[in-house]
Amino acid sequence: MRRNPWIGAAAVALLLGALPVLAADPEGPAQSATAGLDQTTLVQALQNGALSNKDARKLGLLVFSTPFNTYDGLGDGPWRSDEPDPVALGHRPTLQGNGQFLRVNGLDAQSCNECHTIVSNRTLPPTTGIAGVGGVVQNAIIMPSLIDVADTFDDRVAYQPLHDPDLVMQWDGVADYNGRFANPPFLFGGGGTELLAKEMTYDLQQLLAQAKAAPAGTVISLDTHGVNFGTVTSLGGTNVQIDNQGVDSDLVVKPFGRKGDAFTMRDFDRGAMQFHFGIQPQELFLDDPDNDKDGVENEVTIAEMSVLHIFDVNNPRPRYVPTGPSAVVGAGVFSAIGCTYCHRPFLKTTHRVVPLSYPEMKEDPTANIYYTVNLVNVGFDPDPFGPGVIVPFYSDLKRHYMGPGLEETFERAGEIPQGDFITARLWGIADTAPYLHDGRATTLYQAISMHGGEAQQARDNFMALPQFLQNALVAFLKSQRTPSHPNEDLLPIQ
Ligand code: HEC
Ligand code: HEC
Repeated sequence: MRRNPWIGAAAVALLLGALPVLAADPEGPAQSATAGLDQTTLVQALQNGALSNKDARKLGLLVFSTPFNTYDGLGDGPWRSDEPDPVALGHRPTLQGNGQFLRVNGLDAQSCNECHTIVSNRTLPPTTGIAGVGGVVQNAIIMPSLIDVADTFDDRVAYQPLHDPDLVMQWDGVADYNGRFANPPFLFGGGGTELLAKEMTYDLQQLLAQAKAAPAGTVISLDTHGVNFGTVTSLGGTNVQIDNQGVDSDLVVKPFGRKGDAFTMRDFDRGAMQFHFGIQPQELFLDDPDNDKDGVENEVTIAEMSVLHIFDVNNPRPRYVPTGPSAVVGAGVFSAIGCTYCHRPFLKTTHRVVPLSYPEMKEDPTANIYYTVNLVNVGFDPDPFGPGVIVPFYSDLKRHYMGPGLEETFERAGEIPQGDFITARLWGIADTAPYLHDGRATTLYQAISMHGGEAQQARDNFMALPQFLQNALVAFLKSQRTPSHPNEDLLPIQ
């Protein structure tokens, strides 16, 4: 059984309560180093200083990098023929009945770091590390029931019943597909992104409350941190009409995921655990600890998700490394041709600490806070003119329509339109090829040229530039580097 060498013996005793009884297999649960952590003890240890921020990050890194095994609950439980939705999490079939993996709808890995692996793709060989991006081979293939690999247009007959929206099947070189195909982004700087989203959500909810209390006909503009998310109009009583733009109608800013559908990193992680590993977070199944019926209860505990969240938001932020005079010109061009309409060079927070909550209430980021992380210690610059920090991520945290060329054909798309994506954060972009949500662009030039929809004009402006200015803009993007040794201060882990 693994121990935790970095936290003193007293802290180990404090944190590791009764360890689960090991099965006969001598290998046992790989998660054993964090098993037994319970949320109350964790919070006490964080608050009384028995567990430092760094110790908590180490525990979180263990959760992030541990290859989960069968004893941890890896895999969905037995396939159930009575389930109405066989593609849904918790009881997916496995490929050729291998009993563990499916790959084409998750059940595709054992550890988080298996996909978040590459710190720089610009070096030879690529620099691997902790919490980075993935190449296309690490893409997630999400919920397809159809992949027409040979472009055999008549296959639709077999799959017709599930098609909504129906795919236009033609013999045209398009391998039709009704899932999502997503390229892994990095986790760097995630704390700054999460704090901004929480502050924005807080403001939007306040504006919504104001509209509910205002006389009929009052129109309130949904502005926060210099970004507009539409309007809300009072209809009298507490009725309102919400004209939401770039955000869901719940007015909760969701910065994570290429589509912008997760409101915190922890929110994303809950889905990732289930989707990739078939590991069920205790917090989602409080009344049914072995929901997937694979014989393992509480597969990842509340406290393990908490230390993972602490690890997430402590990820160092990407760096600006000037590449010469051309890049300075390029920054000006980037702004002049309209890229900054979406890719805002920086947004400012109004706090320096990001609050972490359990349970999380998406409309109220101030509820149930158990810990805070100071972003200045993570490398964010304090705002010289205000109380917060500067988050130089080149985004507005809004979703935008990117044109027909980038539209997905996801049969199970919910409220988010097929062609809408969250404005990609461009910090670190020099090191993170390939680009765009599915990694289809192998160069920065290509990524820009594939912009359409709301970005059509800015894209056309770029294409019309003389080549030396295009090169300058790309040189500017190439000054946006990933952190050089992310999370290596936590190593060796054992
Ligand atoms: C099979 C590869 C794969 C594995 C394994 C994986 N991820 Fe990811 N990760 C992705 C992809 C792909 C995305 C983008 C998903 C999307 O756009 O919906 C992503 C996105 C994320 C994001 C959002 C980042 C952002 O800025 O939008 C976080 C956080 C994250 N992953 C954490 C994790 C954690 C924690 C685990 C382990 C529990 C994990 N991932 C396992 C591929 C993977
Ligand atoms: C209307 C908003 C908008 C405008 C204007 C815009 N972009 Fe984007 N940009 C996006 C969105 C949204 C994405 C993510 C698209 C995707 O994932 O498929 C993106 C992605 C990118 C990427 C790839 C990021 C990655 O990590 O994959 C680059 C590079 C980029 N934009 C550069 C630019 C440049 C340069 C301009 C100006 C010519 C520009 N963008 C204008 C919204 C915009």
